[in-house]
Parts: sequence; structure tokens; C-alpha cells
Amino acid sequence: MDLKFRPSFFFFFFLIFIFLLQQPDLGSASTPKCISSERQALLTFKQSLTDPSGRLSSWSGPDCCKWRGVGCDQRTSHVTKIDLRNPNQTLRHNGEFEKGSLGGKIHPSLTRLKLLSYLDLSSNDFNFTEIPEFLGHIVSLRYLNLSYSSFSGEVPASLGNLSKLKTLDLYAQTFSDDIFTLNLRASNLGWLSSLAPSLTYLNMGFVSLSGAGETWLNDFSRLSKLKELHLFNCELRSLPLSLPSSANLKLLEVLDLSRNYHYSPIPNWLFDLTSLRKLFLQSVRLQGSISPGFKNLQLLETLVLSSNELSGEIPAVLGDLPQLKYLDLSENSFQGQIHRFLDAFSKNKGNSLLSLRLNFDRLEGTLPESLGALRNLEILELTGNSFTGSIPSSVGNMASLKKLDISYNSMNGKIPESLGKLEELLDLNLMANKWEGVLRKSHFLSLRSLKSFSLTTEPNRSLVFKVPSTWVPPFRLEQISIQNCQIGPLFPMWLQVQDKLNCITLRNTAIADKIPHSWFSRIASDVTELYLENNRIKGTLPQNLVFPNLLAFDLSSNNFQGPFPRWKTNAAELFLYQNNFSGSLPPDIDVLMPRMKRINLFRNSFTGEIPSSLCQLTGLEILNLRNNHFSGSFPNCWLGSSELNEIDASENNISGEIPESLSVLPRLSFLLLNQNALEGNIPDTFQNCSGLTHIHLGENKLTGKLPSWLSKLSSLTMLRLESNSFDGQIPDDLCTTPSLHILDLSENKLSGPVPKCIGNLTAIVQHKSVDEYYVYQEIRDSINLSGNNIHGEIPTEIFDLTYLRILNLSRSSMAGSIPGNISKLGHLETLDLSSNKLSGAIPQSLVAISSLHTLDLSYNKLEGRIPKNLKFKDPSIYIGNELLCGKPLSKKC
Ligand SMILES: *[C@@H]1O[C@H](CO)[C@@H](O)[C@H](O)[C@H]1NC(C)=O
Ligand SMILES: *[C@@H]1O[C@H](CO)[C@@H](O)[C@H](O)[C@H]1NC(C)=O
Ligand SMILES: *[C@@H]1O[C@H](CO)[C@@H](O)[C@H](O)[C@H]1NC(C)=O
Ligand SMILES: *[C@@H]1O[C@H](CO)[C@@H](O)[C@H](O)[C@H]1NC(C)=O
Ligand SMILES: *[C@@H]1O[C@H](CO)[C@@H](O)[C@H](O)[C@H]1NC(C)=O
Ligand SMILES: *[C@@H]1O[C@H](CO)[C@@H](O)[C@H](O)[C@H]1NC(C)=O
Ligand SMILES: *[C@@H]1O[C@H](CO)[C@@H](O)[C@H](O)[C@H]1NC(C)=O
Ligand SMILES: *[C@@H]1O[C@H](CO)[C@@H](O)[C@H](O)[C@H]1NC(C)=O
Ligand SMILES: *[C@@H]1O[C@H](CO)[C@@H](O)[C@H](O)[C@H]1NC(C)=O
Repeated sequence: MDLKFRPSFFFFFFLIFIFLLQQPDLGSASTPKCISSERQALLTFKQSLTDPSGRLSSWSGPDCCKWRGVGCDQRTSHVTKIDLRNPNQTLRHNGEFEKGSLGGKIHPSLTRLKLLSYLDLSSNDFNFTEIPEFLGHIVSLRYLNLSYSSFSGEVPASLGNLSKLKTLDLYAQTFSDDIFTLNLRASNLGWLSSLAPSLTYLNMGFVSLSGAGETWLNDFSRLSKLKELHLFNCELRSLPLSLPSSANLKLLEVLDLSRNYHYSPIPNWLFDLTSLRKLFLQSVRLQGSISPGFKNLQLLETLVLSSNELSGEIPAVLGDLPQLKYLDLSENSFQGQIHRFLDAFSKNKGNSLLSLRLNFDRLEGTLPESLGALRNLEILELTGNSFTGSIPSSVGNMASLKKLDISYNSMNGKIPESLGKLEELLDLNLMANKWEGVLRKSHFLSLRSLKSFSLTTEPNRSLVFKVPSTWVPPFRLEQISIQNCQIGPLFPMWLQVQDKLNCITLRNTAIADKIPHSWFSRIASDVTELYLENNRIKGTLPQNLVFPNLLAFDLSSNNFQGPFPRWKTNAAELFLYQNNFSGSLPPDIDVLMPRMKRINLFRNSFTGEIPSSLCQLTGLEILNLRNNHFSGSFPNCWLGSSELNEIDASENNISGEIPESLSVLPRLSFLLLNQNALEGNIPDTFQNCSGLTHIHLGENKLTGKLPSWLSKLSSLTMLRLESNSFDGQIPDDLCTTPSLHILDLSENKLSGPVPKCIGNLTAIVQHKSVDEYYVYQEIRDSINLSGNNIHGEIPTEIFDLTYLRILNLSRSSMAGSIPGNISKLGHLETLDLSSNKLSGAIPQSLVAISSLHTLDLSYNKLEGRIPKNLKFKDPSIYIGNELLCGKPLSKKC
């Protein structure tokens, strides 16, 4: 063995030894090793939590400082930070929030972490357990966030032990269905004062302070280091008008007292909080006006006073605040003009205002030119006031404007061309005003950013688009709503090129052109609402398009023609009425439009049979096929249409019998099948339809006796069976139909007398309907039995029908005299007794019915003098009565 002395080798090791001596922490400096008792404490803490999505899965290795959400001190290796905030709190709508939530119990082992300064358990779900008292023993805490975590009960007073705490967030909004109950409460706020040395941020939003008494403000006002105080929706019932002398809130920068119920003026102590940058006093029922005290708040950036009861003019003092960025005075009773206030802003040249909201106040007058000085303003909302006049042309100087909303005012002037300079404008809402004048290309010159454009005026105003027919605008809109403005007669290029539209309303715009099929194809994938009614649009609709997002479409009152649009859509509304569509309805309409609720095809030229697939639309509520050329029998398959309440297939050529399956519709209210070719009788099964309010089967070929069960239809308001071939007598049962106001049995083959019980139609006696809900228009109570073979005398009981307006018993075989007590019909307007066999004199009492304006007594056997004061001058209403005399007849008595 060759053992040689090798000094260089030893020297090398010596150097390494020295090196190591000088670097005692090598390795541990970058990765602190966790203290094993704290590791054990964390594991115990983990074990009592529930963790469905495995967020704590990294909590197993030896070094707890490497676990997710755990932080350790670099030197001492003590755990200083636990951050278990649910990262998915913004995803609560799609269920990810629930999945990511920790729950279960918070174990007291946390108190063993002696240097823990940061604890964030927010946005989890502790299932309405109490905040553990022992959190107050972790006196090292500087940051504690328990917000959005579904705690309930009393906030433990032990939190007062946390004298180093800088940040305390207890914001208690939960995402349960019950948004009105506050689960967390703090009835005694005494513990707060111990936090005064350090606390800078306190959020107790959604914590009920209703038990904290009138002195709640005293408790908060001792927190002299506080910069932010958030008490949103805390059930505070009073807002003290003064602060106690001990109060010390000089450092407060953010104060939120919104959504509490105070009823008070704006308290003056607010104006001593000279550090305030943000002040939120929304929905606190503040009353009175805005006081000049605001001039003290020179640092104010955000002022929200919306949804209060403040009144008076908006004062100039707000315009003088040099830092103001966001101002919201919406939903108050501010009145008068805004000139003084805006002039103040405009003098304040360096003004920083970004957002001004003055919606739903009572402001009036014109908009001042000084608006133009608000060069940084991005949002201007003035909806729901009474502003008049034109938009000032200075609007073109508001180069930062992104949103301009002047909707629902009384603006009756012009829209200036300078508007077209607003390159940043995204949303322009000029709905519901009284605009006049002409809109040209220049009005839109640089509106490159515009996404949403709404403009309506009154129908009788003249607001006209005059742009070149080939004009291609700089914008690509997503939403357009134009009403009562003249865009037509052409469907202009500037609309044709829009291919990003999803909400489209072009109502009463005088477009009298064809719309290219390619336009419909282009918008099909995005469009959610398509309203084109009240134009004169002609041409056909493209077939076989798919509208995956469409909710409703209304193409009514145009000149469309051609076949029904075979569009695949989940829309619930289809209005094609008052056009000239033709051809038959698609037999697979249930497949094309399975979610349809309201179909209105009134007044078109549709032909063919009504497809029985309509019965498969289980959500169908309203079916209006009136005034087309449908033929064949009406479908008889309605067993599954539980929502259908209105059927109008009148004025067609429908034959066959009345389908019995209609009588199973539990909600059926309107059954209008008049002016068709229906045969047979009224099926007895209809006696179960107690919800029917309107039956109109007139002008068909129905036969048989009148049903004897009509009184079971307790809501029936209107029964019209005229111009059919019903025979037999009028059944007594009819008299006890409790809601009947309108009865028309004219032009049938009825015989027998007018039933004496007719006076028991209580709805006409009292002018009341059993179910007022169904009386959708003023009812003119009427009875028409004309054109039958009814004989016997006029029963005097009929004069008990106090509110009867129209009585027609003409063209029958009535005999006897006209009873004198006819004047009991004090609301009668029309009386027709012509072409009967009535005899005797015309009763003098007829003169007493002052409402009577139409009378016909011709062709009877009446005799004697026509009552002198009867106001009717037309002799023809008396002719055919040989023995009548006196004016207006030429025959003298
Ligand atoms: C948060 O949401 C994302 C996206 O939905 C999901 O991938 C992730 O697993 C969720 N995280 C937790 C902790 O639930
Ligand atoms: C507390 O956590 C929530 C999220 O859960 C967060 O929005 C909020 O800003 C946090 N509070 C503070 C004062 O950091
Ligand atoms: C929440 O607490 C209720 C009782 O208050 C209990 O019935 C329910 O099972 C708990 N839910 C969970 C997820 O622990
Ligand atoms: C913490 O506060 C509670 C109640 O305020 C008190 O009884 C307790 O002695 C305090 N504990 C410590 C460690 O300060
Ligand atoms: C326009 O019609 C409205 C009612 O719709 C009416 O109040 C107004 O006076 C009319 N204006 C003009 C200019 O005719
Ligand atoms: C309706 O369309 C038909 C062709 O289908 C046409 O003959 C008729 O003139 C149109 N009627 C109206 C009023 O436009
Ligand atoms: C009504 O339909 C019948 C067949 O059911 C047909 O003969 C008749 O011509 C149609 N009438 C009209 C006006 O369309
Ligand atoms: C009315 O309905 C009841 C049960 O809802 C049923 O038993 C009866 O047969 C029906 N009457 C008629 C005439 O359809
Ligand atoms: C009509 O009403 C009267 C009382 O007003 C009553 O005596 C009579 O029985 C009723 N007639 C019928 C048929 O119900």
C-alpha cells in the first residue's frame, strides 16, 4: 500500500470545513423545516375539516411549510400564515364554489400556532356554525378573513383579544336562497375598543347589529387607526346626528353604511371625516338636501347616495370637489336643473369625474353646454328624469365617454352631429324621448366602438335617418333598438352589414323593403330577440335556419308573404300576425319549435289543416289562428296541453265537430271558434271546464239542444252561439250561470218562451263578475235572442237585469204588450223589438231611460200615440204598426 502524505488533499477538506462553518444554515435558509408540534396541530386542524375537492391534499409530507396555503417564518420556521380562501368564489353560479368549499369544524389546535399572523378561511361553507371563540386566543393574528363563509350566531367577544389585528373581515353574505335573513350578529360591540391600537380595516357587512343599540357608532368611532369601515346591510336602525367627543375617525378613508334603515338627514359629523375618499350611503332613507358641508371632503373620490329620499337641487358644492371620480345620486327626488352643478365641474378644469349617475330623479330643464367640459367622463346616466331640449353639441368634446344614457326623458330637440366624434362610445341609449330632426352619416362618423344603440321617439314625431344607401358605418352593433323613427323605405346597407347583432328591435321604422335572406342567415347564430313588427317589410323569409339562442320573435304587421318560416328555435313566442303568409303549417312544428308558448298567426292566408303536432307543444299557452283559411277538422289530441288557456281559431273554414279533448284542458279560458263550418252539438264533456270565460261558437253549423249544464261554468262571462241551428227551448239552467254578461243566441231555431228566470242572471243584475281577473275589457251586458221562433210575452223579470245595455228580441213571435216597468233598465242603450206581434201602446215610461239611443219597434201591432217626449226622430223605427200615430209619423192622432 502506498500511503503517501498528500497535503493538498487535506487542505481541500479544510477549506470546505471552514466554508461550512461560515454557512451554518446552508440548505435550511431557502426551505425552512416545519416544527413538528405545529405540523401536528395543522394535521389535527385538517382532519376535522371536510374537503370535497381535495384542496388540502398536499398536507401530508414532512415539511408543513411546503403545504399549499401554509406560510412559515423564514428564520424561525414557525407557521405564520394559513390561506385557505376558496379560489372559486366567483364561480358560485356553476357549482364550482360549492365543490371547492371547505367545511366541517375548525379545530382548536390552531391556537397552538403561536406566531400565526394571517388566517384566511373566507368563501368556504361552515354550514351556519358559530365562529369559534378560541380564534380570539390566537393573539398573534394581524389578518383575519372569515367573509362569505356561512357562519352564524354571535360574533365572539374574544376577538377583542386580538390587539395586533390590522384587518378583520367578517362580511357575512351567504349564497343560500334566503338572502334576507342575517345569520351572524353582534349584539354587544364593547370588544371592538380593544382593537383600537391596530385595526385599520373592518368589514361587518351582513352582520346584524340590530341588537347593538343606538350607541353602535360610539363603539366604531373609537377605532382611531381605522381606514376602512364597511357596514353594508347591518340592520342599523338609526344614524346618530352627532359623534361622541371620544370619537376619533380622522384617518377613515372608506365608509360604507349602505342598505340600512335610518330616516335622517345627512349627518354633519361626516364632514369632519376629512380623510374620506369613498363614501357609500345607498338605500339608507336619507332625507333633506345635500348640505354645503361636503366642501370639507376635499379628498372624496367616490360618493354614492343613490336610493334615498334626498331632494332639492343638486348643489354646486359637489362640482367643486377636486378629486371626485364616481358620483351616484340616482333614485332620489332631486329636482330642478343641473346647470349650476355641472358648471361648477366645468370650471374645475382638472376635473377627474369618470362616472356620473343621476337616474330616476326629478331633474328637468335642458342639458347644459358645460357637459362638454367633462373630458374624462366615461359614464353618464340620466335615465328617468324630465330633461327637455336637445343634446348640447359640446357632447362631442367628451372624448372618454363610453356610456351615454338619456332614455326615458322628454328630450324634444335634436341629436347633434358632434355625437359622432365619440370614438370610445360603447353604449348609446336615447330611448323613450320626443326627438325630432334628421340623423345623418356624420352623427355616427367615428363611433367605432359602439356596441349598443337604442333610439325611440313618439309615433307622431318626425325623426328620420338620411344616410347614403351605400353607407357602411364604423360600428358593428350587438344590440339595436329603434322605434318610431323613419329608417325606410329601404332596408339600408348600414343595417345589412351588421353581423354581430343579438338583440334586434326595429319597430315602426317605415321599412317597406325586402330583407335579404342572407341577413337572417348571418344573424341566426347570435340573435336572442328579433322584433321587426309594424313596418311594411315584404318578401319571403328564408327556410330551414337554426336560431340556437332565439327567445322571441315578432314579425307582425308587415307585408311578409310566402310559407311559414321553418326555423329551428327554442323561442317561446312567435308572432306573425297581420302579414300575408300562406301555405300550410309545418307538420313537425313541435320538433322545430319545441318550447313555444305563445303563437299568434292572426290575419294571414294560411291554408290546409291545423297540424295535430301543435298538441305536442306541452308549454303552449296561447294559440291564435284567427282569420286564415285553415280547413279540415280541428285537432283532437289536447290531453297533454296543460298550459293552454286561449284558443282562437275563428274566421277560418274548420269543419267537423268540436273536439272533445279541448274540454280536458285545465286552464282553458277562451274558446273562440266562430265563423267556421263546425257541425254537431256542444259536447257534454265541456261541463267540466269551470275555467272557461269566453265561448264564441257563432256562425257555424252547430245543431241540437242548448246544453242544460251551462250553470256549471262558473266563470263564463260570454256565451255566443248565434247563427247556428240550435233548436228546442232556452233551458232554465242558463239563468243561474253566475258570471254571464253577454248572451247571444240569435239566428237559431229556438222556440218556446223567454224563461221567466232570466232575471236571475246575477252578473247583469250586479254588473260584477265572479272572477274579475278575466274581465279584460269593459263589459257591455247584452242579451240577443233575435231571429228565432220565441213566443209568449216579454217576461217582466227581464227588467230586473239592471245593467243590461243591449236587448234584442227582434224577428221572433213575441206577443202581448210592452210592460211599463221596462224603465227599470236604467242603463239600456239599444232596444230592438222589431218584427214581432207586440200589441198595445208604447209605454210612456220609455222616455225615462235617458241612456237609450237606439230603438226599433217596427213591424208589430202597436197602437195609439207615440209618447210625446220620446227623442227619436226617425219614423222608420215605428213603421209596420198600422195603428200608431203622432210624431215622427205623419199620421195624426
Ligand atoms: C375551481 O374551478 C375550476 C374551473 O371550474 C376547477 O377546475 C377547479 O377544480 C376548481 N377548484 C376547486 C378547488 O374546486
Ligand atoms: C376576504 O376574502 C374575500 C374573498 O373570500 C375577499 O374578497 C376580500 O377582499 C378579503 N378581505 C380582505 C380585507 O382582504
Ligand atoms: C349542516 O347542518 C345541518 C344542521 O344544522 C345538518 O343537518 C346538515 O347535514 C349539515 N350539512 C353539512 C353538509 O354538514
Ligand atoms: C379573551 O377574551 C375573553 C372574553 O373577552 C376573556 O374572557 C379572556 O380572558 C381573553 N383571553 C386572553 C388570552 O386574553
Ligand atoms: C304626440 O302624441 C302624444 C300622445 O301619444 C301627445 O301627448 C303629444 O301631444 C303628441 N305630440 C304632437 C307633437 O303631436
Ligand atoms: C297575398 O299573397 C298572395 C300570394 O300568396 C297575393 O296574391 C296577394 O295579393 C297578397 N295579398 C296582399 C294583401 O298583399
Ligand atoms: C271550406 O272547406 C271545404 C272543404 O272542407 C271546401 O269545400 C270549401 O271550398 C272551403 N271554403 C272556403 C271558403 O275555403
Ligand atoms: C268531469 O270530470 C270528472 C272527474 O274530473 C269525471 O269523473 C266526469 O266523468 C267528467 N264529466 C264529464 C261529463 O266529462
Ligand atoms: C230566481 O231568483 C229568485 C229570487 O230572486 C228565486 O226565488 C227563484 O227561485 C230563482 N229562480 C231560479 C230558477 O233559480
